[in-house]
Amino acid sequence: MEEQQQGEQTKPKKILCIGLVCLDIISVVDKFPEEDSDSRCVSQRWQRGGNASNSCTVLSLLGSPCAFMGSLCAGPVASFILEDFARFQVEVCLPRERAACVTPTSLVIGSAATGSRTILHMNSNIPDVTFEDFSALDLSAFKWIHWEGRNADEQLKMMAAVERRNAALPRQRRIVTSVEIEKPRENLYRLFPHADVVFVSKDVSRQLGFHTPQNAIRGLAGRLRAGAVLICAWAEKGADALDADGTLLHSDAFPPQHLVDTLGAGDTFNAAVVHKLANGCRLQEALTFGCRVAGAKCGFHGYDAIADQLTQM
Ligand code: FRU
Repeated sequence: MEEQQQGEQTKPKKILCIGLVCLDIISVVDKFPEEDSDSRCVSQRWQRGGNASNSCTVLSLLGSPCAFMGSLCAGPVASFILEDFARFQVEVCLPRERAACVTPTSLVIGSAATGSRTILHMNSNIPDVTFEDFSALDLSAFKWIHWEGRNADEQLKMMAAVERRNAALPRQRRIVTSVEIEKPRENLYRLFPHADVVFVSKDVSRQLGFHTPQNAIRGLAGRLRAGAVLICAWAEKGADALDADGTLLHSDAFPPQHLVDTLGAGDTFNAAVVHKLANGCRLQEALTFGCRVAGAKCGFHGYDAIADQLTQM
C-alpha cells in the first residue's frame, strides 16, 4: 500500500476525458451549397473528432498529460483514430471490445465565407462507456476526470464511485471532476449536481429559458452541489462563470481576424479551462485563457497550430 502511494506521487497524474470519439470528414466550401446542387470543395480532410477526443487533443497541445476513454470499433477508421491519438500523445483506454458496431462519423461542411460548421452526425449502434468499463481503470493515475455528458445513468455511477474514493482520501490526493452538459436533453440535466466543475452550453441554457450567459449562470447555479463551479461559454459573447465562493466572473471573447474553422471550438474552450484549473490557476484566469485559446483556434483549421500560438496568450 505504502509502495503504491509512493508510486502514485512520483508519476505525473493525467487528465482523463470520457466521451465520444468519431471520424470527422470535413469538406471546406467557399460558400454553403444549395440543396440539390453539384459544387466543388476548396479542400477535404479526415480528422479525429468527438468532444472528449477533441478536448484531449487540446489538453495535450497545452502540455497536460491526458488520456481518453471511449468506444471504438475495429477497422480502418479505428486505425486512423488510434494513430492520431498517438500523434498527439494521448493515451487511450478502450472499453471492452464492441462487437459488430460502426465507429460514429460526422460529415462536416465548413464554410470559408463564414467559418460556420454544419455537422451531420451518424452514431448508429456503438454503446458508450459503462460503469463496468470504468471500474477496470486504475484511478490513481488521474488527477482530474472530465465527462462529456452522454449516457447519464452510467456516468452517474462513475461519478459516485469517484466521490466514494475521494471521501477516503486527503484533499490533495482527490480527483477533481468536471462534466460537460452540451446537448439539450432532459436526461443529462441529472448530471448537474455531481461534478466539481460543470460546463453548460448555450443550447442547454436556451432550452432551459436563459437567453444570456449571465442569466444562465444565475438561473442554473441552484442545480449544482455546494462549492461547485459553473461555466457557460457563449460564442461571441465570451464566457461567464460562478466560482465556488459564489463570485460571478466574465471573460470577453477573443475572435480571430478571420473566422476559419469553428469546429471543436467549445471542446477547445473546455480543455483550456480544465488545463488551467488542473494546474492550480484561479477561475478568472482559466476562463480568460479558455476564451483566448478557443478564439485563436477559430482562426485556423484543426488544432495543431494551438501550440504555435501559445506564446501570444
Ligand atoms: C465538435 C464535435 C465534432 C463531432 C461532433 C459530434 O464539437 O465533437 O468533432 O463531429 O462534434 O457531435
